[in-house]
Amino acid sequence: MIFGIILAGGTGSRMNMGNFPKQFMTLCDRPIIIHSLDTFLSCEKFDKIYLGIHPDWTDHASELVEKYAYEHKDDIIIIPGGTDRNSSLFNVIEDISARFGENEEHIIITHDAVRPFVSLRMIEEGIENAVKYGACATVVPSTDTVVVSHDGKKIDSMPVRKYLYNEQTPQSFNMMKLKRLYYSLTDEERTGLTDACGIFTYKGEYVHMAIGDPTNIKITTASDLAVAEVFMKTRSDE
Ligand code: CTP
Repeated sequence: MIFGIILAGGTGSRMNMGNFPKQFMTLCDRPIIIHSLDTFLSCEKFDKIYLGIHPDWTDHASELVEKYAYEHKDDIIIIPGGTDRNSSLFNVIEDISARFGENEEHIIITHDAVRPFVSLRMIEEGIENAVKYGACATVVPSTDTVVVSHDGKKIDSMPVRKYLYNEQTPQSFNMMKLKRLYYSLTDEERTGLTDACGIFTYKGEYVHMAIGDPTNIKITTASDLAVAEVFMKTRSDE
């Protein structure tokens, strides 16, 4: 089976909106998470779409599904998120395992709720590559020169830009492969490895790269939201 997983268990502290998580803020006409969900719903390959939601906000998420995705509500499952992104993801993975079994062929397409510009192409390439390779990241070539500094004062090195990429989501996996790798980590390793593709590379496993899009931004701060408003308006004018 193929599952979409939209992660929205965070609080968005860098957005400075008090207790209101940024994934529920309005971007043009609808909540940010609903833009992401709409694109996932446009993909006909999913058997179910999971929303990993901050535990205090699951009722709110259910109301949004009723309002914006009523005709799809039987295909959407809401699960309380955990204390970090990977624990939110693994709350969902454990629910898939319990309801649909630990099938070696389950494919999961994981996505940050706060990247509302994900495209159907990225989702479908993620599915295809996860089937073929077991793990797939979405990346864009880095346009900035990156510097490395250990003390925050002096530049220690400057990696060659042509080898650098910025990672986005979706990240897509063979679910059982990811599950086995995650549970083989020590608690300390789990704390350090906050990125699911990073777990594969840490364990020496192949991660395929699919090319994303520079507009597939993650809304982290108020200025990202302002940029997203412009992108959204430009898109609707096209
Ligand atoms: N996320 C999650 N569960 C968590 C933390 C984060 O599902 N415990 C999700 C967020 O909701 C978001 C995505 O992971 O969709 C990317 O995380 P980030 O942008 O860092 O979100 P927050 O953790 O909410 O933001 P901040 O770090 O500013 O608090």
